[in-house]
Amino acid sequence: MMSSTLTDELKNRRPENVKILCQLLSIPSVSADPQCADSLHQAAATLSELFQIAGTGWSCEVVPTAGYPIVWARYRALGNRRRAIVYGHYDVQPADPLDLWTTPPFEPTLRDGKIYARGATDDKGQMLTHILSALAWMKTAGQLPIDLDYIIEGEEEVGSENLERFLAEHRDELKADVAVISDTSQYAPGWPAITTGLRGIFACEVRVHGPRKDLHSGVFGGAIPNPIRELTRLLSLLHNEHNEVQVPGFYADVVPLTDADRAGFAELPFDQDAFLAETGAIGLRGEAGFTPLEQRWARPTLEFNGIYGGYTGPGPKTIVPASATAKITCRLVANQNPDVLMKSLEVFLRSQLHPSCRLEFTADHGCPAFLMDRQSPFLQAASKAIEAGFGKAPVFIREGGSIPVVATFKRLLEIDTLLLGWGQNTDNLHSPDEHFSIEDFHRGTLASAILWEELAKV
Ligand code: BES
Ligand code: MN
Ligand code: MN
Repeated sequence: MMSSTLTDELKNRRPENVKILCQLLSIPSVSADPQCADSLHQAAATLSELFQIAGTGWSCEVVPTAGYPIVWARYRALGNRRRAIVYGHYDVQPADPLDLWTTPPFEPTLRDGKIYARGATDDKGQMLTHILSALAWMKTAGQLPIDLDYIIEGEEEVGSENLERFLAEHRDELKADVAVISDTSQYAPGWPAITTGLRGIFACEVRVHGPRKDLHSGVFGGAIPNPIRELTRLLSLLHNEHNEVQVPGFYADVVPLTDADRAGFAELPFDQDAFLAETGAIGLRGEAGFTPLEQRWARPTLEFNGIYGGYTGPGPKTIVPASATAKITCRLVANQNPDVLMKSLEVFLRSQLHPSCRLEFTADHGCPAFLMDRQSPFLQAASKAIEAGFGKAPVFIREGGSIPVVATFKRLLEIDTLLLGWGQNTDNLHSPDEHFSIEDFHRGTLASAILWEELAKV
């Protein structure tokens, strides 16, 4: 059993732990914004300082990559039978639109038991729980019952494209039994969860070119192709009236949900009106034949993330624009290949393109989906730790978001990942007023402390 000194230590350290969180949250480490480069390095340095105070058995290096550095902290003790990899990311999403924030995104503020800041839940707050729990073990017991490798990167929000190389290069040193990530959500308030599946993703940009430059629409319009018209026509071909994606072969490799999967989802309470109210949308629009949880957790999608072209300033401007662009991402499920499907999308768009226009297709990042082995003995260990930390046994869920490294851990290191989300879907991740419940922060830290012991016992 975990000693009461450890529980007490965690209680006593609460104010200090919140202070550390606030320090990290005041660094604007937006990986998508090149102007934030210094802040990303500063976030990495702050984390590595945190590991310096851990004591005997610890080492930490800030490993440079072609992009932002990886903080790699290791704990080794003689006699430990188990080893876990702990992954997190210190980069955050852009904070805009700034005017929708109640308080500035990089001035962490406490309000109604929540800490408000960009990165509070995704992922600085959640990731930190696993560091703070280890520090508490070191302070009270002078050692940890399990060996640990922390891998904290700064490029998750832009596709983790330099992480694979690091993992491949250090593959032999990174032998472990299981990985642990807190970068997902609980099912709902009061419903802690373990996530056993994540969707994959690929991202691309489609640009249609018409004339060489913007032209007078009175002089040339009518005879010369309009790229906005052609782009929107192409995009309208990508779904049918059942909200099914029309790219040939899009569903070919999808592993169908089993009756047991569907029954498991259906057992979870789901209030459709509350779900809609949460989003502000006035109606649902998902793939026919599937429930909203199935649509979000176990079905692939094609989403338009942004569209621009021509004149978008104030007042009218009579032009035929030179080009129009759409940003597209597809969410993928287990067994679908991001590279193959990205190519299928490109080929389909080119096959449908009007010969008067030129199409430019730019591939961006991609990663496959993840489906956990439900028989893994580590799931039971994690379940016990969550029950002890949150006062309630977790439910098993899947989620629709993506964490690229999870599939890489499976492929390269042949380990499963325990996705132990301390956040809530309503924490406004990627949105204005992102926040994280202080209670969940402390509960997560306690669950993490117990997890080290439970994993060691497996
Ligand atoms: N932490 C999220 C992923 C997530 C959030 C999973 C909530 C499940 C529930 C992560 O930081 C993220 O935002 N990932 C990106 C993918 C990346 C390749 C840009 C995503 O899912 O859009
Ligand atoms: Mn995240
Ligand atoms: Mn994110």
